[in-house]
Amino acid sequence: MRLTMVGTGYVGLVTGVCFAGTGNDVTCLDVDARKIDALRQGRCPIYEPGLEELLERNIKNGRLRFTTDATEAYKDAELIFICVGTPSDDAGHADLKYVLAAADDIAAALKRFPGKPRTVVVKSTVPVGTTLKVRDRIRAAAPGTKFGIANNPEFLKEGDAITDFNKPDRVVVGVEDEETGALFRRLYDPFVRNGHPIFLMDILSSEMVKYASNNFLATKISFINEMANLCEAYGADIGKVREGMCADKRIGSQFLYPGLGYGGSCFPKDTLACIAMGQSAGVPVSVSQAVHDTNQHQRDRFFARIESHFGGNLKGKSLAFWGLAFKPRTDDVREAPALTLIRKALAAGATVRAFDPVASETARAELGNGPTIVSEMYEAAKGADALVICTDWDDFKSPDFDRLAAALKSPVVFDGRNLYRPDELVRRGFTYYSVGRAGAAPGSRAR
Ligand SMILES: NC(=O)c1ccc[n+]([C@@H]2O[C@H](COP(=O)([O-])OP(=O)(O)OC[C@H]3O[C@@H](n4cnc5c(N)ncnc54)[C@H](O)[C@@H]3O)[C@@H](O)[C@H]2O)c1
Repeated sequence: MRLTMVGTGYVGLVTGVCFAGTGNDVTCLDVDARKIDALRQGRCPIYEPGLEELLERNIKNGRLRFTTDATEAYKDAELIFICVGTPSDDAGHADLKYVLAAADDIAAALKRFPGKPRTVVVKSTVPVGTTLKVRDRIRAAAPGTKFGIANNPEFLKEGDAITDFNKPDRVVVGVEDEETGALFRRLYDPFVRNGHPIFLMDILSSEMVKYASNNFLATKISFINEMANLCEAYGADIGKVREGMCADKRIGSQFLYPGLGYGGSCFPKDTLACIAMGQSAGVPVSVSQAVHDTNQHQRDRFFARIESHFGGNLKGKSLAFWGLAFKPRTDDVREAPALTLIRKALAAGATVRAFDPVASETARAELGNGPTIVSEMYEAAKGADALVICTDWDDFKSPDFDRLAAALKSPVVFDGRNLYRPDELVRRGFTYYSVGRAGAAPGSRAR
């Protein structure tokens, strides 16, 4: 099939590359000329394991093209996937300006090249009702043109995006007619040979599946953090509580890791969008609100712990940060806890030296010259009054503790991801703070 991806970010690019990988002819359109230039040369503008190899392979075999030219992108497309961003606006609603601009471009193209059967697919995460709004907007701007409409939410995780896309747990598609449903069954057939389901449903439900899924996962994270905070207050160990709790099959163990809370380009904005949808409809959304509030509170609480260690005054202190990305295996720093903590530390008068295996550039674009970002993890720790760990990259899981202690001015570690055993760190002479493990090493300096 001839496909066009509108937007070549984390979702559009991965989707385009993976569909090209199963033999489709894919054109990726973006308004960002620098991104398109890089992609044409086979250079991946984002860090995503495995993506660059697939990109090169599919460019070479002629199935994948990149352009900023809307005419070229839309002229022959049978399926047009809208994969542009839907960030939060100031009131927490999903800002649809990129989606609606893409709809206008598509309408203009349909008018110029009528007669071809096409389907417009909203893949961006959008509030319930948006896909039909896109349909109506295109109909109004290009009256008489024929096109199908669908919603196809994406569930990939950054860091595992290629595997998630190629072997999805499920594919969800909202359609208005059986013909469009059959088209999607053909398109996704190579991806569900493992027997995983394709759910065809109405468009409104399909849009809601995405919000319900992300909101639920965010809820698990806020829930375990709330339990971790209770553990701290009462001297229990969240690690042990987690084990005991997660052995129950009804509960499971995924997304139940205590820490600094969720970040990234999806959970924070999708939780807010759910709250905004509820408020618009007059439906109470107190669970979603609590999930969001707990998540924000978790960062503040961790920062308060750092401040309190230094007697409430960070002025003149030097802090090392390991991890800038919102999670490992990505360079995405959108809503990353590290950025919140670094901004707070700088505002409180501390200096910051930070390291991340891949997110230096994206973090620098957000933080400017405030922190010093270095290219080696022990270099970040050099002369620092404490180390703060914000991302659970594998690189940080078994460090050379002697080297770390020698690099730090004082051996203090604030571990926002519970990477180490408190008793081991204490034995090695560190003052060690983690999340939810107040009683992990009674009488020790682990907190
Ligand atoms: N990132 C994820 O892990 C993920 C996972 C599932 C769903 N989603 C959803 O997918 C959507 C896209 O997310 P993303 O992270 O890929 O966004 P992104 O910000 O990485 O990429 C969006 C791209 O769209 C381009 N763009 C904007 N307007 C355009 C237009 N009119 N024509 C062509 N290109 C245009 C931008 O230049 C940018 O390159 C969002 O709704 C998001 O919630 C994201």
